[in-house]
Formats: sequence, C-alpha cells, structure tokens
Amino acid sequence: MINNRIFPATPEHIEKGAELIRAGGLVVMPTETVYGLGASAYDAQAVARIFEAKNRPTFNPLISHIADLDFLPQYAETDERVMALAKHFWPGPLTFVLPRKDMSASLDLACAGLTTVTVRMPNHPVALALIRAAGVPVVAPSANRSQTMSPTTALHVWQSLGNRVDMILDGGACTVGVESTIIDMTGQQVVMLRPGGISKEDLESFLNEPVLLSHGNPNLPSSPGQMLKHYAPSHVLRINVVNPDPDEFFIGFGDIGADAPLNLSPSGDLKEAASRLFDYLHRADEQNEFLKIALAPIPETGLGLAINDRVRRASYK
Ligand code: TXA
Ligand code: MG
Repeated sequence: MINNRIFPATPEHIEKGAELIRAGGLVVMPTETVYGLGASAYDAQAVARIFEAKNRPTFNPLISHIADLDFLPQYAETDERVMALAKHFWPGPLTFVLPRKDMSASLDLACAGLTTVTVRMPNHPVALALIRAAGVPVVAPSANRSQTMSPTTALHVWQSLGNRVDMILDGGACTVGVESTIIDMTGQQVVMLRPGGISKEDLESFLNEPVLLSHGNPNLPSSPGQMLKHYAPSHVLRINVVNPDPDEFFIGFGDIGADAPLNLSPSGDLKEAASRLFDYLHRADEQNEFLKIALAPIPETGLGLAINDRVRRASYK
C-alpha cells in the first residue's frame, strides 16, 4: 500500500485538515501524549467512522479535545475545582470526566450514551491550531487499532490504520509518550481512572487533597482503558525482568539492562522513559529474530505509574 496519507503539519495542511474535519473526515493529529484520530464531535457519522476504523466497541466513549478554556463551561458542568485544575494543567495531558451539559444528539455516540463527557486541551501547537480552525470540539481516541499500542509517530499511525483515515498530520514524535491522565470529577473525591502524563503526586500537591486510584472492574470498565488486555504488542511481553532469557529482546531501564539493545532511560529518568515507551515496544515488536520481549522493572512513582499500568496490560495474556 502506498503511503499517501502522511502530510507535514504546515499551516496549509492544518487548514486542509480542518476543512476535512468540518466535512466529516477523519484527520490524525499529533498531541503531546500520543497521536489522536480526530473527527468533529458534532458529526455522528464521522464519529461512527472512528469506531469502525479502530475496531473499537461503541460502548467505549471518546475524549473531546478543545482549544479554548471558555468553551468548557458550556460543554460540561464545571465547578471551581475543575476550573482551577484546567487553568493550571491545560493545555496538557489531563482529561476530566464531567457531567455532560451539551445535549446535542450528535454527541451521543462520542459519549457512548453516558451522562458524562470527557474533555481535555492538548498541549501541541498543531492540535490546537487544527481544533481552532475546525471550530468544533474534536473527538480523538489514540490513532491505533483497538487493543494495540498507541502511536507516538505518524509512521506508527500509518502502520496501524493506513488509508482508513483521510489525513495524518505529521508533527514529529510525541514528547510525553503516554496517554493523558483521566480523572473523574463527577463525585466528591477526585478519582483517577487512568494514570497518565500528569502524575498523581502533582495533582495531589496542587489540589491539597488525596486523589483515589480506581482499580475498576476489568470486566465492566467505567473507563474501558482499564480492560486488562490493552495496548498490546504482538510479541509476548514479560515485565519486571532483571535477567532476560536468551530468546528475549531486552528493553532496559537505568542500570538494569545497561548493555541491552534498547534502554528506556539509561539515567533512570521516568519522563524520558515514558516518551520512548511505545516507540521501543513498536521497535521490539519488529524484531523478527525474537518472538519475546522482556522489560526491566520501572519504579512505581511519578510517570512510572502510567508506564507500569500500560506494560501490565500489554503483558496480560
Ligand atoms: O492522551 C490521550 O488521552 C489520547 C490523546 C489522543 O488525547 N487519547 C486517548 O484516547 O488516549 P483513548 O480513546 O485511546 O482513551 C480514552 C480513554 C478510554 O479508555 C475511554 O474508555 C475513557 O478514556 N473514557 C472516555 N470517556 C469516558 C467517560 N465518560 N467515563 C469514563 N471513561 C471514559
Ligand atoms: Mg487508546
């Protein structure tokens, strides 16, 4: 298949992408976390195409991406705590689950019929420019087939979705590299549904209150990203490995696997490790001489929570 979908994210191509979105197209945009498969939140047919392109079950709702903080209170029910968090962490990898306010029927599918709506403002100039030019909230799941690893480059997107999408805006490699942190703001307590690019520690120190970590029910997920098998490479993945077997392709971290073919961060920097995680898993998956991947232990603090969450699911058989 000839790659005729990837375009450098120039102002002209962003404008073209916005036109496509307004016309019901699927446009892949770079964000700081992972690439997103975007469509107009107000175009039910375009949203349906997202589910089809990804093979995603339609009970799994999508995140709406917005570019303007003032739009939030008309889209969702907000309170002071939500607005303070948004002002502080946006644009950035933090997503809120909020009571839905915009009852447009065309939004029902994106929200999977729930009474909540899920929103974030991505910290990427291309995504922000695209959303502004399109003039609508852009719903975007990660731009990969369901249950496979999230894409952090335009090429990953092409390899996973090919010409199921109308356009892929290439903005280079994603800097954060793991998906946004999702917090449920509908109750008294802030509940983290998915660890991600903003750490639990950072949220707690800003809020001055504890953030609960939801372990969910993996069979009846309130955030289907909680399903156990998710984000999986096609090779078998073993985690928390200090001594890899000879038939395993080893990905190190810090001093463990200092001479491994790939090391997520030789200096033990969790931000660096997160930004490389999916790319290294993609690369390991492409090693045909190995059918197994082993990954060194990652500390369970800061971004390590998000990294361990993803690799636990990726290793689940
Ligand atoms: O970083 C990100 O969040 C990326 C970029 C593209 O923004 N997006 C992303 O979307 O990771 P997706 O669809 O791959 O993951 C969104 C997760 C899903 O697990 C979905 O179940 C959950 O968010 N979710 C969406 N709406 C929800 C809701 N109303 N209640 C609970 N979970 C929700
Ligand atoms: Mg995803």
